[in-house]
Amino acid sequence: MNPAAGFRAVFGAEPAGVWAAPGRVNLIGEHTDYNDGHVLPIALPHRTRVAAAARGDGLLRLHSAGAGGGVTALRVAGLAPGAVRGWAAYPAGVVWALREAGLAVGGADLHVESDVPQGAGLSSSAALEIATALAVTELHGHRPSRAELAALARHAENAFVGVPCGIMDQTASACSVAGHALHLDTRDLTLRHLPFDPAAHGLRLLVADVGRRHALADGAYAARRAACEAGARALGVRALRDVEAAQLPDALAALRPELRPVVRHVVTENERVARVAALLAAGELRAAGPLLTAGHASLRDDFAVSCPELDLVVTAARAAGALGARMTGGGFGGSAIVLVEEDRAAGVERAVADAFASARFTAPAVFPVTAGEGAGRHGEGGRPPAEAGPFSPSGQGT
Ligand code: GLA
Repeated sequence: MNPAAGFRAVFGAEPAGVWAAPGRVNLIGEHTDYNDGHVLPIALPHRTRVAAAARGDGLLRLHSAGAGGGVTALRVAGLAPGAVRGWAAYPAGVVWALREAGLAVGGADLHVESDVPQGAGLSSSAALEIATALAVTELHGHRPSRAELAALARHAENAFVGVPCGIMDQTASACSVAGHALHLDTRDLTLRHLPFDPAAHGLRLLVADVGRRHALADGAYAARRAACEAGARALGVRALRDVEAAQLPDALAALRPELRPVVRHVVTENERVARVAALLAAGELRAAGPLLTAGHASLRDDFAVSCPELDLVVTAARAAGALGARMTGGGFGGSAIVLVEEDRAAGVERAVADAFASARFTAPAVFPVTAGEGAGRHGEGGRPPAEAGPFSPSGQGT
């Protein structure tokens, strides 16, 4: 069903509009965003759509086509961290965070439809948060910048839902431009839109959802984060981003052995982002392949956030001639990406499927993706409205 029709069926009225926000895959720069480092995600063509209308009585009513359980009704004034469970915590958290930030937002009815795979490491949560934030702010007459929306959505996820994520996913969903990867410095939040159009180079980017659901809320993500913070403290720097690649040998020698691999991953990964970004800017997409694969090895061996299924996608795809492959997102399951020559893509897909069958793993869902458009009001091509700030494809965004 389309979201407006879904809204009518659930709430018996017309929505005031439909707002949409995409999921993402990260090309490179994993577990760097909470170390003040660099990331390079693209928005996916897959989007979460929110049909919404304002209410005057302070009630927030939430319905999702994809989640069972009917309508969740909450009093906006009573929203508090920990008070809402399940999928509704994400939109409720966004409304809470907007009010915490001093934006006068009241009640609303929201109906959600999404084709962003859930639990696949493709940021379905960020897509839901950003689509909600756009809908609710616009319904109540506010036009914060995309960067502000991303920060508010992240705050909702950290403080209301209780997931200690960084700023990458929300920024990718809010600020991306179609046909471009988003190079974000997570310390000063400057961003560059770098051309990313594999088809124009005779290439394809595949996503392989390995079907093993990951849950960032469990302790492993927080434990990695704590280890990074311990490493920065031990080295006397504000964040691991402040350790240059050239300083790495000295830094490692100064650390307790158990912190060394974690620090090595973050420092080398930041370096890989810089190199891949330079290659994209130079139009040398093919040359990025080996850096993606090196990023996977670092996440597998040093940061220890991969799993057998993700490793198998990478080895099978590489053996079948892929230019590069790596897990994407937080890890412990989710998805991998594969960069491959167009005429080898079918062979790579077959090789991955065969390898999974031989290992008796559930068949992965493999699909090609392009760099999609960031969030927007549906029906306007999804582009940010002009007054939302400068988003020139080559320039700095807000
Ligand atoms: C998850 C988090 C992000 C980021 C990645 C790892 O997707 O939400 O903030 O930390 O993991 O790069």
